[in-house]
Amino acid sequence: MKRVFSGVQPTGNIHLGNYLGALRQFVELQEEYQCLYCIVDLHAITVPQDPKELRKHILDVAALYLAVGVDPKKSIVFVQSDVPGHSELGWILTCSSYTGELSRMTQFKAKSHNKASAPAGLFTYPVLMAADILLYDTDVVPVGTDQKQHIELCRDLAIRVNNTRKKTFVVPEGRYLKAGARIMSLDDPSKKMSKSAENIHSRISLLDEPSKIKKSIMKATTDSEGIIRFDKEEKPGLSNLINIYSALSDKTVDDIVAMYEGKGYGDFKKDLVEITVDALAPIKERFDEIRSSQELIDILEDGAEKANAIAEKTMARVKDNFGLGLK
Ligand code: TYM
Repeated sequence: MKRVFSGVQPTGNIHLGNYLGALRQFVELQEEYQCLYCIVDLHAITVPQDPKELRKHILDVAALYLAVGVDPKKSIVFVQSDVPGHSELGWILTCSSYTGELSRMTQFKAKSHNKASAPAGLFTYPVLMAADILLYDTDVVPVGTDQKQHIELCRDLAIRVNNTRKKTFVVPEGRYLKAGARIMSLDDPSKKMSKSAENIHSRISLLDEPSKIKKSIMKATTDSEGIIRFDKEEKPGLSNLINIYSALSDKTVDDIVAMYEGKGYGDFKKDLVEITVDALAPIKERFDEIRSSQELIDILEDGAEKANAIAEKTMARVKDNFGLGLK
């Protein structure tokens, strides 16, 4: 069975972009692949974190995985720092990475603001991500398109190691869904929807109350033309909302444009509020049931054990091919 790996950072505010770009794919893939879904807490500490909040967010993301439909009987759900192979392989791959290629990563440039005091972990972040993926001989990585550059780096590193040593790694493929691959911010559609943006109305978090969802959508930036049509260049705000509508309703963009011919943005937004509230209500309900249960901890412990068993085999092969250790 081919293998899938993906991860989400436990930084709170998991939003519609995370859901439509990544989480929703996780559920579909469980039927065809052996899936590993990770809560990447080591990535989260590339920026300062409050320890209590971090623990809370780890469990929040784990509960959200299950709430959206990840089934622990089919998939391995675990916390990254519970499997030491991630850090170990991260270091080994750091030694095969070039400072030039890492300094070209757009997320590093965006987050470090060219500051000399930017944490070195932000710089090597994509290498740890490559380690996550390569540790499990992953074939397919479902992510949003914002992660494309990181996936390409992962492939480059795998190919580089395979070409300079014995074949060590499986070279993975990214899997990007068209609808939802990049959900933009509601207040500024030139930016991607993000967990860390200051304006809470720039995103819809999966656990938002209906009143908050309504407010965020009704306030979302559009344009003054007043005609509902899809045009990313001229009408990026409205086009983003049409994309969200389409992804949540299984109607095509053309269907939606036809449905709203002659209608105004108010009607469209009101319907989008209803569709979004209906789509997120069952997720929130399941989240509330799972979040405080002992079952969640048991699932994560069991997941870490299973992930470790796979990771240890890969690490033995990697160490052997690099000549590390005694055997
Ligand atoms: P993170 O936690 O930022 O995001 C989790 C997933 O959500 C997707 N995503 C989006 N998709 C569409 N529109 C958006 N606005 C949007 N924002 C986020 C991301 O593409 C991602 O799939 N580096 C990763 C975490 C990671 C990882 C991995 C992923 C660490 N190791 C190994 C895959 C494989 C990240 O920061 O995701």
